[in-house]
Amino acid sequence: MQANQISDCGFGTTIPNRSSEMRHWLGLDIGTTGSRAVIIDESGAVRAAASAEHAPMSQPQPTWAEQDPEDWWRAAQEAIRAAITQGNLKGEDIAGVGLSGQMHGAVLLDEAHQVIRPAIIWCDQRSQAQSDWFTNRMGAARLKEITCNPALTGFTVPKLLWVRDREPDNYRRMRTLLLPKDYVRFRLTGEFATEVSDASGTLLLDVPRREWSSEILQALELDRSVLPLVGESEEPTTRIQTLAATATGLRAGTPVVGGGGDQAAAGVGNGIVESGILSSTIGSSGVLFAHTDEPHMDPGGRVHTFCHAVRNRWHVMAVTQGAGLSLRWFRDNFGAPEIEEARRAGKDPYELLVAEAERVPPGSEGLLYLPYLMGERTPHLDPNARGVFFGLTARHTRAHVIRAILEGVAFSLRDGLEIFKAMGVASQQIRASGGGGRSPLWRQIQADVFQREMVTINATEGSAYGAALLAASGWFGSVEEACRVCIRVTEQSNPDPARSRLYQEFYGIYRDLYLRLRETFQLVAQIGLTADKAG
Ligand code: XUL
Repeated sequence: MQANQISDCGFGTTIPNRSSEMRHWLGLDIGTTGSRAVIIDESGAVRAAASAEHAPMSQPQPTWAEQDPEDWWRAAQEAIRAAITQGNLKGEDIAGVGLSGQMHGAVLLDEAHQVIRPAIIWCDQRSQAQSDWFTNRMGAARLKEITCNPALTGFTVPKLLWVRDREPDNYRRMRTLLLPKDYVRFRLTGEFATEVSDASGTLLLDVPRREWSSEILQALELDRSVLPLVGESEEPTTRIQTLAATATGLRAGTPVVGGGGDQAAAGVGNGIVESGILSSTIGSSGVLFAHTDEPHMDPGGRVHTFCHAVRNRWHVMAVTQGAGLSLRWFRDNFGAPEIEEARRAGKDPYELLVAEAERVPPGSEGLLYLPYLMGERTPHLDPNARGVFFGLTARHTRAHVIRAILEGVAFSLRDGLEIFKAMGVASQQIRASGGGGRSPLWRQIQADVFQREMVTINATEGSAYGAALLAASGWFGSVEEACRVCIRVTEQSNPDPARSRLYQEFYGIYRDLYLRLRETFQLVAQIGLTADKAG
């Protein structure tokens, strides 16, 4: 990701001249690898977009993941400033701001509002013991009634309880618990606030009622004052404060709406605001996302049931922990040639990696990949699962390995699709989104593996775009109306019957591999723990 990168907005070609009559809204997404600011106008066209990278997440132990909230704030300021400059705009041209961000992270602040320790982020898997403790404390059935989900290491409460158990001094000092985007909101507005879609991923929200659960707070012996105010996603609850205005170029007093967790915001940005349309988003994580009119649960809790960023609507999502993260892992560890070539040619290393994958046939000549680099949520709910390459032969090359990664991620998303089917979630159309959705090859692989048409839409900015639409929704009349006006289908990839048949066979083997390896994954995790104790 580069600062000042113009987005491929796909909304026609004319960028309007600066005009004080034209309203603009800014969406800011605090992702895992970087922060992105997108400015839209009254037609929904992207006027400017800019990113700033985050420092790589720190992994003190396998399957642990931490980031420094201060680094998000640094990147957020850079991205906002760059987008305003790029759009040839002034702070007063921005009528409102919407925030979106990586979900589930635990940001702990002390009495002086200082960050106590690095944030433990969404893909961290250290908290199985705490997750089990919480389930016992609440009772699995009651927990599900309130939160619509089982306790998972991915969610916020087990991470917080890990701090309680392992770093009691830090826990005692905590006065405020925030989600990643809401820490940036705090720096922008001086207010502690969140909204229902992101709050759903904490296990502290009563998801059907869309309010913090006093019963859970009581069970955790947590004071309500630790939590921010929770509102609806399109509510303009907070305003840019003077200091932040100077730092970002925004005008002091600009309203900031609740926004959304990155997936719910991407749901809005992809127009997933009615039943029957799904999105498949490949960012760091991979997410299959569907809108529901009521909270709708998988009896096995294998997909998440959360509040949507649309008032009185919910969503379900299937989550692959290591989707784009798998390709990034390959790039960072084995992609030096592509990184170098991309630097020389002014290209994106991912483009070169995917071009290499295109040279080998579908099925990667029998090489399969299980993308469980950070454990797995859907469908296994297993923090101990590990990544696997299976079927290597002397004939295989790095191109096969890259293709196997793309295919393994698609198989994992297919697992989610199967659960949606069993739940009766309608899926007339699947919209490809995220960095992975921009790659024609990865889109085609998804179409072939899902045996469904995949479409692309004109809006390609996902979460940041959705956050901007949430900020603009008051002007459009509603979130749904904003989506109706701004989003349309552009292209379609159709499944190829022969490739789909081949992938169907490999998918069976892919599923079988996890079942055969489950016990072995536990053993490896146990050895890891023993080695840890042995120092
Ligand atoms: C969703 C999830 C990820 C993160 C990072 O449940 O954990 O999508 O929000 O993108």
